[in-house]
Amino acid sequence: MLGDKVPGLLQCRQCPRLVRHMAALPPRKGLSRKQYWNAPVPGFGDPQARICLVGLAPGAHGANRTGRPFTGDGAGDFMYPLLHRAGFSNRAEAVHAADGLALRDLYITNAVKCLPPDNRPALEEFANCSPFLSVELASLQRLKVVLLLGQGAFSSYLRLLKGQGCIERVGAYPFSHGVVYRPQRGPVFVASYHTSRYNLQTGRIDETMFLKVLQTVHSLAGAEND
Ligand code: URA
Repeated sequence: MLGDKVPGLLQCRQCPRLVRHMAALPPRKGLSRKQYWNAPVPGFGDPQARICLVGLAPGAHGANRTGRPFTGDGAGDFMYPLLHRAGFSNRAEAVHAADGLALRDLYITNAVKCLPPDNRPALEEFANCSPFLSVELASLQRLKVVLLLGQGAFSSYLRLLKGQGCIERVGAYPFSHGVVYRPQRGPVFVASYHTSRYNLQTGRIDETMFLKVLQTVHSLAGAEND
């Protein structure tokens, strides 16, 4: 089931703070509110994907405008050309939801589907959204590897795994860039620094580091048993 078919997602208004924030967001200069998605952003990609990349939440003028994860923001402008170089897509740019971009062996979504103020979802907002992520992951029948971008998505995924009884203790899985974990049940998961503009500007992550993570998840997907 692709993201836009997840029951209840597009109509979801469970987080009043996020609903208010989207309603109040001023459009970028030269654009009108009508050109903004301003609603939950579903995941997208290859239904046969063995790899799922999970970001934090839509960017204000990126995914929240275009309606597709990482599309039209700095994080995506960095990430999509590298995904293409690593063989995960048919084109290098992500501009808008109908630009013809097709992902191969990869599905991309966010831990939180609505735009949060200051890119910081509250714990309750992660929790409200986690059933949607769970449905997306469960629908990927060939899923082998989950790649979590940033501490927020990573911690949210750990809480989901704990709730599902796949891990016993969240604290047993510290975040570090490139770390690979095998839970008692379910797909192997990998942490990466987020490809946010801030992390790029400060040099916390760069092309070489991200390409290496992509190589890791690609080889893990090939190595994991069916
Ligand atoms: N855009 C997204 O869709 N997700 C992020 O985590 C950042 C930007």
